[in-house]
Amino acid sequence: MYRVLIVYSTQTGRTRQLVDACAEGVTADDDVALSVRVASDAGTDDLLACDGLILATPENFGYMSGLVKDFLDRTYYPAEGKTIALPYGVMVSCGNDGRGAVSAIERIASGYQWKAFAEPLIARGDPDEQQLAQARTLGETLAAGLSVGAF
Ligand SMILES: Cc1cc2nc3c(=O)[nH]c(=O)nc-3n(C[C@H](O)[C@H](O)[C@H](O)COP(=O)(O)O)c2cc1C
Repeated sequence: MYRVLIVYSTQTGRTRQLVDACAEGVTADDDVALSVRVASDAGTDDLLACDGLILATPENFGYMSGLVKDFLDRTYYPAEGKTIALPYGVMVSCGNDGRGAVSAIERIASGYQWKAFAEPLIARGDPDEQQLAQARTLGETLAAGLSVGAF
């Protein structure tokens, strides 16, 4: 059984909508177990236990949310060298941009030596059907890749 971890934060629920759609995609695969954690409740044990990771955040002031950053801050040293090549994906909910959050996550992920398995998903405004479908596909892609040993 492979394990996927989704770590997220949300204030007004948009990021949570993306997470729910992504979770549907992950759990469509019977070989994969899913943990969904609010970033403030997620820690090193969750990270070390997963085979694939999705970080989902609103963009706040051109960056990821403080809670998602805090998760990364808290886990970096305890997980150092133990999650190399972990496949990860990113979902950002934002008003009109999203790129600052994506690039900040990518920079930090390179410090952990994680490997992006897909292009980041940026959803501007209220998530629409197309964006939710993309979130579902992101989850399916990670689960399918783990199941067939592609990562
Ligand atoms: C404090 C704060 C800062 C924000 N900064 C940005 C920003 O820099 N760029 C942007 O596109 N949207 C920004 N937004 C808008 C949010 O990213 C957007 O409303 C997002 O969809 C909220 O996601 P949530 O419902 O998961 O909280 C900001 C919102 C807040 C509350």
